[in-house]
Amino acid sequence: MRIEPVAALEGHVAVPGDKSISHRAVLIGAICEGETRVSGFGRSADTESTIAAVRALGVEVEEHDVDTVTVHGVGLRGLRAPEVPIACGNAGTLVRLLAGILAGQERGEFELTGDESLSTRPMERISTPLTRMGAGVETTNGRLPMGIQGRPLRAIDYELPVASAQVKSCVLLAGLYADGETTVVEPVPTRDHTERMLEHAGARVTRRPASVTVERAETLRLPSVEIPGDISSAAPFLVGAAIVPGSSITVHGVGLNPRRAGILDVLERMGARVAIYNRRSIGGEPAGDVEVRASDLVGATIVADEVPSLIDELPILAVAACHARGETVVRGADELRAKESDRIEAVVEELRRIGGHIRGTRDGFRIKGVPARLRGGVVDSHGDHRLAMLGAIAGVASVEGVELRGSEAAAVSFPGFFEVLEQIAPGAVHYPHAT
Ligand code: S3P
Repeated sequence: MRIEPVAALEGHVAVPGDKSISHRAVLIGAICEGETRVSGFGRSADTESTIAAVRALGVEVEEHDVDTVTVHGVGLRGLRAPEVPIACGNAGTLVRLLAGILAGQERGEFELTGDESLSTRPMERISTPLTRMGAGVETTNGRLPMGIQGRPLRAIDYELPVASAQVKSCVLLAGLYADGETTVVEPVPTRDHTERMLEHAGARVTRRPASVTVERAETLRLPSVEIPGDISSAAPFLVGAAIVPGSSITVHGVGLNPRRAGILDVLERMGARVAIYNRRSIGGEPAGDVEVRASDLVGATIVADEVPSLIDELPILAVAACHARGETVVRGADELRAKESDRIEAVVEELRRIGGHIRGTRDGFRIKGVPARLRGGVVDSHGDHRLAMLGAIAGVASVEGVELRGSEAAAVSFPGFFEVLEQIAPGAVHYPHAT
């Protein structure tokens, strides 16, 4: 695909429902009693893997339209072990959260598999606490395929060795089945969508600034969930608007959970003009309409405490940093190496190829802004959706445009990404073989 530079990004758009919350709505809906109607569902390759996974476990899911689904829950202990492995595709959130639920299914043996990328990602971070709780978990050298044998679980106090919402959620979901109170202590607060949704479903959850406790549950009920737009999907457009002179875009109905919205703080620190209108609550999550207008940016420093609130936005923030005066330093983000690709290596390699002055470090990167624009050239997504969107935004902001290889990866989280980009940047997107 070719992405041509544009004069400005302009307009009002919406983005698909939050991917993290969409996974949770289907997984938690599956273990509730009765129906869970999910509106604003963020349909993507990843969340379709979650629908397929719960169906394989005997849960009926009705798809009314692209973003409305009803999950017919089978109760906490009603999942049935399929005879074939459960394929989790590219979705880390699916495999890690589902493992916590399966650990408590006393009648079953389950096998979880993933695509090539997911099969390289670390799973001992969940097998360790689940094993301590009494589940039978067998990984393949710490990776997928992973076998899980559900057993009666005991409650644990678990201090997370890495700040990971997926691991926290895995332990909390297993905690619903455990005898007693399960507590997870976090080194840095991470996204709390699981805690919020479990509370809504009637679980006993106690939240403290650095830890969360869940009690064993007998039944959960979650009649409906409304999902706000995904700030991670809005992020590429917000960054594009911040760096292409004369731009102004508004993304409507975006989730603004403080544990997710770190990118807005950083953009403001860099001098971007960010405004939030119509603050409201969508499905128990803070939300609003986010407007970003272009301005001259300066570099910023991002440290470990802030990283979980913008972990998936660090690649696209690197594009903003390339267009900012001075240096941007990202530290404490070694987790980027364990994502859909090694996002430190991949971001450095791809931004260098198109003229960025960026250097990788053990736990982040350093970028010297070239207040002129990125030159452009070839960007490869490494099969990683965040990299595909990075390449597209770098392309519209660049001097010569970008030939984007592996653009189809964007569909992992945002199938309509290029259509929305074309809407706010007419003439930017050129599909292969189109005349
Ligand atoms: C997610 C948590 C984060 C994030 C991922 C989604 C979640 O991963 O990078 O895209 O939905 O809980 P980690 O928990 O591994 O940091």
